[in-house]
Amino acid sequence: MIVCSCNVLSDTEVRTVANTATRRTTSYVFSCLGTRARCGRCARTIREIMDEVFDGAKVGRADGGAVLAAPTDKQP
Ligand code: FES
Repeated sequence: MIVCSCNVLSDTEVRTVANTATRRTTSYVFSCLGTRARCGRCARTIREIMDEVFDGAKVGRADGGAVLAAPTDKQP
């Protein structure tokens, strides 16, 4: 799916960059893909994809994922 119509960038391209990204910024994604922001309408979508990838990776790293994903045990 195209997420940036100005630069014809797909969600797959954004995810690929996000998977190896060291910074969670849209400008980083544009830079890695050899382009730059134009109208900016895609910024929110790109940021959401990056959040999804970064947050997913965080849960994966803690695997047993339980550490970050499990509900807390409440003592009565
Ligand atoms: S839609 Fe991405 S810069 Fe315009």
